[in-house]
Amino acid sequence: MTEPVGYVRYRDDLEQPFPDEEELTRQVVAAMLEANKQVAAKHRHGLRDAHAKSHGVLVGELRVHAGLPPHLAQGLFEAPATFPIVVRLSTAPGDLRSDQVPVQRGFAMKVLGVSGDRAVEDGFSTQDFLLVNHPTLPFGTIGEYAKLQNLLESQPRQSDQQLKVLGAGARVADAVLTRLHRPIPPAVETLAARNNHILGETFHSMAAVRYGDHVAKLSVAPRSTNVKNLTGQPVDPKLGESALRELVGDFFAELGAEYDLRAQLCVDVERMPIEDASVLWPEELSPHEVVATVHLPAQDPYSDARRRYADDLLSFNPWHALAAHRPLGSVMRSRRSAYPHSSTFRHDYNGVTEHEPVSIDEIPA
Ligand code: HEM
Repeated sequence: MTEPVGYVRYRDDLEQPFPDEEELTRQVVAAMLEANKQVAAKHRHGLRDAHAKSHGVLVGELRVHAGLPPHLAQGLFEAPATFPIVVRLSTAPGDLRSDQVPVQRGFAMKVLGVSGDRAVEDGFSTQDFLLVNHPTLPFGTIGEYAKLQNLLESQPRQSDQQLKVLGAGARVADAVLTRLHRPIPPAVETLAARNNHILGETFHSMAAVRYGDHVAKLSVAPRSTNVKNLTGQPVDPKLGESALRELVGDFFAELGAEYDLRAQLCVDVERMPIEDASVLWPEELSPHEVVATVHLPAQDPYSDARRRYADDLLSFNPWHALAAHRPLGSVMRSRRSAYPHSSTFRHDYNGVTEHEPVSIDEIPA
């Protein structure tokens, strides 16, 4: 492996506006809101516009490692510390799909009690990291994302069975194109998710964030053997519609787990672009370096009180962030308006007030 040369230093002009960015963002948010209204009418309950279905809500700790070298000892990770966290595990659609449909999984982590300048003046003391089990966002600019939106908007009208068939076709296409070393079209990449155990997955920010003096993509990967052993384990079809909730509940009833939180620093803005999240940052240019441990003890991850609190009151949002970890690139900028719209819609629909925790004691057991 080649040693990385020179970590790119963060500067405001690393970001470049995308043509018609505001209009494209407005279109994406408006389309999401329409889908959100349909789903709420179907369930008589407001859900998230993406990652609607939760499978477990975990409390634990983020333990920042001691002795990090200067390029990694940045922002939240500047000094060794332990922060309380809450993690919501989810699947990507903005509707409640059967867990037998293979779709991307989410790992949203809210770090509590952080201090420092904010990315936006929200008055909060939280740092959210929203991660998905795929390293890139196949539609990696707001222009391409607006096209993905059209694909997603057609999903509420497709049955679980139709989605399974589409997914199986996409996985065959993905395997054939990979073998032929041909580029994978974004639509195929999006639909080709495999239906594996959620706790064995590695989750990625897909897009870049500021990393103090530098720029990084972040990820969370299994650290303890018990979750490493679950990597690539297919979900048993016999477990039915709520298989992931069953798997997460059974696991944490008995055991705790640990994950590595890793930063991959940008060392080359051409080959590791900030504005196009569809490009995989090559590990041979810059490896994923462990900066903290995510510690999740045994617990009941889905009591009614906890599910209601996390699904209905909490909001995870990449812009709940320190200035030192400001989200970067056009897709990230579009999320600044998308998340509050979705959050406000479901809170209003359900007649509840959004809650941003200050203390871990506010998370119900
Ligand atoms: C970089 C790629 C992205 C990642 C890694 C990501 C990840 C996630 C995750 C993990 C959640 C679930 C949060 C929770 O558990 O509450 C979520 C929710 C959501 N995402 Fe994304 N997302 C990405 C891009 C986008 C984009 C581009 C948009 C729209 C422009 C979007 C819109 C939403 C919305 C509206 C929600 C629901 C928010 C709420 O109601 O609280 N996401 N996302």
